[in-house]
Amino acid sequence: MERTFLAIKPDGVQRGLVGEIIRRFETKGFTLVGLKFLQPTKELAESHYAVHKERPFFPGLVEFITSGPIVAMVWEGDGVIASARKMIGATKPLESEPGTIRGDLGINVGRNIIHGSDAPETAQNEIALWFKSEELVSWQPQMTPWLH
Ligand code: TYD
Repeated sequence: MERTFLAIKPDGVQRGLVGEIIRRFETKGFTLVGLKFLQPTKELAESHYAVHKERPFFPGLVEFITSGPIVAMVWEGDGVIASARKMIGATKPLESEPGTIRGDLGINVGRNIIHGSDAPETAQNEIALWFKSEELVSWQPQMTPWLH
């Protein structure tokens, strides 16, 4: 079953959006398999965003991500990687469609509330970076298979 890494960034936590965001993925029908609340170290933030390390926004991005607690999560379900990206919306919240998390709840690209893995390989790498395998719980909601 496909898994993705999602993180509610410090602005999402500070604004009290944790419940709202988790609710969207729960009611969509995806399954939460990992969850932790932590303030990332600089080393962890730099590894997570290593692909952007030459970009001008990198130092500010790392400073922001390490500025307060975040909610790190792993969600599971058919097509969850691409679907979560759709539910999150475009990187710039002013360009994100209404109905998406960023489109409904944000304005600023540097404060865009939530991260989601963009492809199967990044999902695998990010899950391994943020979670030990014993921190992930494999379980099935007790419901009829066709009910989502
Ligand atoms: P990126 O991986 O391009 O976007 P996404 O989060 O939608 O996958 O960029 C990572 C983060 O870097 C992005 O969420 C916010 C920040 N960022 C900026 O601050 N300025 C920028 O111009 C870009 C492209 C990203």
